[in-house]
Amino acid sequence: MKLEGKVAIVTGSSRGIGYEIAKLYLKEGAKVVVCGSSDVTAQKAVTNLQKELNINDEAILGTGIDLKDNASIKMVITKTIERFGKIDVLVNNAGITSSESILESTDESFQNMFEINFFSCVRLIREVIPYMKKSGGSIINTSSMVGIYASPYQAAYSSSKFAVNGLTKACAKELGQYNIRVNAVAPGVVGTDMVTKNVTEEMKQLLVNSTPLRRMANPSDLAGIYLYLASDESSFTTGAIIQVDGGLVM
Ligand SMILES: NC(=O)c1ccc[n+]([C@@H]2O[C@H](COP(=O)([O-])OP(=O)(O)OC[C@H]3O[C@@H](n4cnc5c(N)ncnc54)[C@H](OP(=O)(O)O)[C@@H]3O)[C@@H](O)[C@H]2O)c1
Repeated sequence: MKLEGKVAIVTGSSRGIGYEIAKLYLKEGAKVVVCGSSDVTAQKAVTNLQKELNINDEAILGTGIDLKDNASIKMVITKTIERFGKIDVLVNNAGITSSESILESTDESFQNMFEINFFSCVRLIREVIPYMKKSGGSIINTSSMVGIYASPYQAAYSSSKFAVNGLTKACAKELGQYNIRVNAVAPGVVGTDMVTKNVTEEMKQLLVNSTPLRRMANPSDLAGIYLYLASDESSFTTGAIIQVDGGLVM
C-alpha cells in the first residue's frame, strides 16, 4: 500500500473530487481527516466511506471546518494530532466557483472567493509546517485549468486559482529545505456538483467537444494524481502544477 503509515488532511472531501481522494488514500493505507463545511456533511461522507470500503472508524476522522476562520483551522489541526499524532499530507481541495462579469463583480464577491479558494490554503499551510518540518511532508493544492488559461466571466475564480499556483511555487521554493514538497493539480471539467449546478448543457457539450479525450472527467479520474503526489513515488517532485484535463488546455 502506497500510503501505509501516513496521515492526510483532505479539505472539501465530503463530496466531489475530495471524496474520491479520501477514498483512494484510505484504500492505500492512510489515516484520513475528512473535512466538509460542517460536521454534518463530513460525518455523512465518513459513513459512506465506511460502507463503501467496509472499514471501521480507526483510520478516519470527520470534521467540519470554517476555512475563513483561523480558530476553526487550528481546531482541526489539534483534533488531527490528538487522534493520529502527526500530519504527513495536506490536500487543500475545498473550493467554490462563480460566474459574473468583472463589471458586475464587487469587492465582496472577490473577497469571498479568495477567502475560500486562496486564503484557506495559506492558513492551512502555515499550520501544518511545524508538524511537517519534523519528517517532511506533501502539500497538494487544487488549482484549475482556469488558473492556467483564464476564463471570461470568471475573473474572481480564475484569479484565485492563478494565486494558488503562485502560492504553490513560492512555498515549494521556501519549504524544500525541510523536505516539504508543494504541488498543485489543475483539473479540467469534472462531473461534480460544481459543474452540474453551474455549467449549462450547451457549455458542457462545447467543453467536451474541445477535449481531446472527448468527455468530462469523473471525480475518480483525478484521485490517482493526488495519490502519486502524496506518496514517496513523487519524492523529487515539487513546485509542479499538474494538469489533469483530458488535454483541454495545451
Ligand atoms: N469540478 C470541476 O470541474 C473542477 C475543475 C477545476 C477545479 N476544480 C476544483 O476542485 C476542487 C473541488 O471541486 P469539486 O468539483 O469537487 O467541488 P464540489 O463537488 O462542489 O465540492 C466542494 C467541496 O468543498 C467543500 N466546501 C465548499 N465550500 C466550503 C467552505 N466554505 N468551507 C469548507 N468546505 C467547503 C464542500 O463541503 P460541503 O459538502 O460541506 O458543502 C465540498 O466538500 C475545488 O477547489 C474546485 O475549484 C473543480
